[in-house]
Amino acid sequence: MTSDAAITIRDAHKTFKGGVQALRGVSMTVNRGQIFGLLGPNGAGKSTLVKILMTVIHPTLIDGDLLGKPVGHRATLRRVGYLPEHHRFPVYLTAEQLLHYYGGLEGMRRPERRARIGELLDLTGMSAWARKKVGGFSKGMQQRVGLAQALLHDPELILLDEPTDGVDPVGRREIRQLLLHLQSQGRTILVNSHILAELEPICQQVAILVKGKLAREGTVAELTADRQRWEVEIDGPEPTWIDTLKGVDCRTEGTHHCLSIGGDAAPMVQQMIDLARGEGRTVRRVERIGESLEDLFIRSLEESGEADAATPGAASAGKAGK
Ligand SMILES: Nc1ncnc2c1ncn2[C@@H]1O[C@H](COP(=O)(O)OP(=O)(O)OP(=O)(O)O)[C@@H](O)[C@H]1O
Ligand SMILES: [Mg+2]
Repeated sequence: MTSDAAITIRDAHKTFKGGVQALRGVSMTVNRGQIFGLLGPNGAGKSTLVKILMTVIHPTLIDGDLLGKPVGHRATLRRVGYLPEHHRFPVYLTAEQLLHYYGGLEGMRRPERRARIGELLDLTGMSAWARKKVGGFSKGMQQRVGLAQALLHDPELILLDEPTDGVDPVGRREIRQLLLHLQSQGRTILVNSHILAELEPICQQVAILVKGKLAREGTVAELTADRQRWEVEIDGPEPTWIDTLKGVDCRTEGTHHCLSIGGDAAPMVQQMIDLARGEGRTVRRVERIGESLEDLFIRSLEESGEADAATPGAASAGKAGK
């Protein structure tokens, strides 16, 4: 293992009793200090992979390291924070009591817990609810307390399984900010999510799992690079010179014309601007548009023959289908 990898997984397999093959040979590397997005449709194997890293379930086969120790090394988990999916906290505890309970399990002493809990309730926007019972919390509030629980022991690696599940748009933005803040402190974050648009601006790296196999892995920029296009929006009558420019499409809306060309076509874009300006037209917009993570996600599913699972609603709007 190289020292800059927080997680290295080689050839992970998991077949559950009954024969479900949740993981079918997954290999990936999460570098230290990164926010790594693990994406995939329902049932892809994301939670299974995270649970194997946390020793919650046994792999059928895995060769991998977590913070420099083989996967399964229990003592290393002290350095890892974990927010499980669908977690259920004791409803009769207040947020503060709950965090004291988990801190106690971590072996933290009371004064240390007290200081840390105040800090974390503040960080997760839950200070006003510190003395309220978890049973009365909304789903989003339970997620925030769950995040505080995951961060309690100051972990260097944080595994978050759908941290924004049930969280409203404002809360999601706050969680994104929180993840960036945690990253700025030098922590590594592996986050499972369906909400692709949300991960796109904060993840350095993503992996797309489909039916237990890795369909894609890389930086968002790398993965979407070959599907980029340029758009130039101009005013005036329909340009007569459009047919002379190879590969350029023109979409007309009233007196606006959107000229678009795929790939890295900067010289052609200059030519379009020169032609338009030469005719005294107004150039309203020049934009380089990349494939979105959502487009890439859908394309990965289509290429894997799993397009039925790729309903845009499920990909972008969270877990409505669950
Ligand atoms: N304990 C289990 N016993 C049997 N099958 C299981 C078990 N846990 C998960 N599976 C199956 O393994 C596959 C992968 O499940 P997993 O929960 O890892 O998917 P996921 O990518 O996290 O999905 P989601 O987005 O819905 O959370 C699914 O087919 C699921 O039904
Ligand atoms: Mg899951």
